[in-house]
Amino acid sequence: MKADIILGCQWGDEGKGRIVDLYAADYDVVARFGGGDNAGHSIVVGSQELALRIVPSAVMHPGVELFIGGGTVVNPQTLLDELGRLEAIGIDTSRVKISDRAHIVLPHHVMRDAAAERERGSAAIGTTGRGIGPAYVDRVARSGIRFADIGNATLRPFDKLRAGLAQGDKGAQGDKGGQDDREMLEAAGRLAPHVVDGVEYIHERLYDGKRILLEGAQGTLLDVGYGTYPYVTSSHTIAGGACTGLGIGPGSIGRVIGVFKAYCTRVGAGPLPSELHDERGEKLRRQGGEFGTVTGRPRRCGWFDAVAARYAVALNGLTSAIVTKLDVLTGFERVGLVTSYRVGDRSAGFSAAGEPDLQMDVEELPGWSEPISDCRRIADLPATARAYLQRLQEVLKVPIEMVSVGRERSQLAR
Ligand code: GDP
Ligand code: IMO
Ligand code: MG
Repeated sequence: MKADIILGCQWGDEGKGRIVDLYAADYDVVARFGGGDNAGHSIVVGSQELALRIVPSAVMHPGVELFIGGGTVVNPQTLLDELGRLEAIGIDTSRVKISDRAHIVLPHHVMRDAAAERERGSAAIGTTGRGIGPAYVDRVARSGIRFADIGNATLRPFDKLRAGLAQGDKGAQGDKGGQDDREMLEAAGRLAPHVVDGVEYIHERLYDGKRILLEGAQGTLLDVGYGTYPYVTSSHTIAGGACTGLGIGPGSIGRVIGVFKAYCTRVGAGPLPSELHDERGEKLRRQGGEFGTVTGRPRRCGWFDAVAARYAVALNGLTSAIVTKLDVLTGFERVGLVTSYRVGDRSAGFSAAGEPDLQMDVEELPGWSEPISDCRRIADLPATARAYLQRLQEVLKVPIEMVSVGRERSQLAR
């Protein structure tokens, strides 16, 4: 059996979580491969609503095993709180397993994140403030602490911690001299019943023919190597990140399903070429409820960007796509689509996204006014909505297998 991937293809918040929740019914294991509690994945089933940060978005399916892979950075307290909230509503969390290779986010990472943002001044990235960047810095610098190191006397995590603090911003450990970090390591110790050998865990399941779904966090255009650097997160969010984040080879990957919002949003600073600074952007934000799940910040909004989308198809080797939030475009007289970039008199690719003199060609298609949230078949959508999807299909050049038309699990058209 090969593992399938579902991941975001824009700047995050594409609605990956709700798609993973839907698809999880057909899988035995759902695994997160990167990021940490910078993610916020909302799931709505009936009147129940969940916002998940670290636990994979399959929690509503009782039989599915949930795995947090070695490519993640985990804040133990956030995870303990999340597990507590899930248990309080009757969800069995004993099936949540954490790779021993996952790194631990400590309070000094959170402080360093804030300090780095302050130092950047007007060039601040607008991080989620969760210490994600500094935790990945320590991982690469080989001074991080993994779940494998907890309770491993020979590795002396507390000595490693001190070494890490010495390498980091000296002032960042605060006046408690690392006391908060020690408490966090104790919290990590309480997660011991969930910690497994992450490589054995995933390979045993691959070998046993279990159906495995790999859940992306953030979005393709926030990838540390290929996104709008430096306005990115600190992990590989693209499909290749699923291999390195779980310790599996590319040959073990089956389908790669990309999730695209029917328009674009971005939270935080950095290029968003199709951004609308007028009442149309306001309307997208209002109709789409575009406020961050983690930070509550208003998301910047703009038209669907075909240049960015084609780039994401290529980076991930998508086999199909899903378009979310089509209902949000209801009530626009004309719906825009950025079809190409230009710099001066030459055409440009996505790498030009941050250029100050970037020009864009915007195609405008007729909109629709009918509510579409009750449509369950693409064929039942208004003709102009179908024409818009047809245009997206032409641009993406991979099949669109499904369209979401509302927040609730069943609000989908195929
Ligand atoms: P993720 O990070 O990719 O999982 O996405 P988020 O959960 O952070 O943000 C997506 C938001 O859009 C959530 O509030 C979802 O409930 C909501 N959402 C998802 N799909 C749809 C849809 O088809 N229509 C509408 N109106 N809202 C949706
Ligand atoms: P989900 O999984 C949207 C953004 C932050 C910031 C940049 C770096 O819900 O789609 P970080 O805290 O990671 O160092 O911030 O990345 N960002 C996200 N934006 N959705 C996310 O996750 C994000 N995770 C990080 O806003 O611009
Ligand atoms: Mg989100």
